Amino acid sequence: MNVLHVVGARPNFMKVAPVLGALRGRPGVAQTLVHTGQHYDANMSEVFFQQLGLPAPDVNLGVGSGTHAVQTAEIMTRLEPLVVERKPDIALVYGDVNSTSATALVCAKLGIRLGHVEAGLRSFDRSMPEEINRLITDQLSDLLFTPSEDGDENLRREGIGREKIHRVGNVMIDSLVRLLPLAEKFSLAQFPARYALVTLHRPSNVDDDASLRGILESLQEIGRRMAVVFPVHPRTRQRMESLGAALNGVQVCGPLPYVEFLALQRRAAVVITDSGGIQEETTYLGVPCITLRGKTERPVTVSLGTNVLVGQDRRRLEEEFTRIFEGGGKRGRVPPLWDGHAAERIASILCG
Ligand code: UD1
Repeated sequence: MNVLHVVGARPNFMKVAPVLGALRGRPGVAQTLVHTGQHYDANMSEVFFQQLGLPAPDVNLGVGSGTHAVQTAEIMTRLEPLVVERKPDIALVYGDVNSTSATALVCAKLGIRLGHVEAGLRSFDRSMPEEINRLITDQLSDLLFTPSEDGDENLRREGIGREKIHRVGNVMIDSLVRLLPLAEKFSLAQFPARYALVTLHRPSNVDDDASLRGILESLQEIGRRMAVVFPVHPRTRQRMESLGAALNGVQVCGPLPYVEFLALQRRAAVVITDSGGIQEETTYLGVPCITLRGKTERPVTVSLGTNVLVGQDRRRLEEEFTRIFEGGGKRGRVPPLWDGHAAERIASILCG
């Protein structure tokens, strides 16, 4: 069986690593790893490949940045001849980024079987580009690997046959479980003892001047009470620069490598984020998470985990922060099948 993995953006890398690992050495399996080049900065891509023990991609399509249409079209145009040439038995795509849906479109039209890892998640908010990517990819997939029960329900509601849906758990947690011991050894001596860790990159938060300004003001407010550590995504850095925003009392740095960021998450008093994956990682780690979004495609992080949604409501953000600052915050538990073995389950289904 020839398996073609296609990844492109930072959150894909921790998902493909365990699946590649679980398929490696299975009899009759040959694997090709394609990087679309959606993320190209070394600190958004290369360092993740190194730390996750990923092999260098067999092919890098080098698409780079662009509008959604340009980026998606570039991926499709460059990927199609490769898929025609390699004729994989199955293509595997990950998560909800533009590389995911572009690959789904190419493979579906070439009649290549498609597997979607992290299928079925829905925010029910079509203003998010990721929601469009999820809907398209799931409709076109032959095998849908879901992380949680809500994923199965969403897919069934959209008319996807039960036989295609496989609840395997959360592959991103596989990488976390594997690398947590390394993260625990990482020295955080240059960071404060008690801190809030912040990430921010959603277009709905950072592309709008008023909302970005509001969030930055809240972070400065929070910074008066607790140290704030903020590794800034390139998209957000551009927006902050064009806004001329200064962040006093906040420890700002560039995007961090996986292990360092995991170490920081684990010891954080609170994580404030608009990321998808970080909502899950904090739930696994039992660290309180305040999510700057009105809806989440990962509802188990709220129902079972440590996550609280505050949208763009500054008052709610500051209230939730105070609750955590004074009382330690929400305690949660780890959702079923987030156990470090999701990729093995995927490999068994593919090879079974
Ligand atoms: C993408 C995903 C998002 C994911 C995020 C994680 C889509 C639609 N969005 O968003 O779901 O949570 O990755 O990071 O696929 N840039 C650089 N260097 C890079 C990559 C990007 O400077 O290596 C800058 C570019 O100016 C680019 C901007 O960041 O225009 C945004 O990059 P893009 O890949 O379009 O989307 P993200 O915001 O990173």
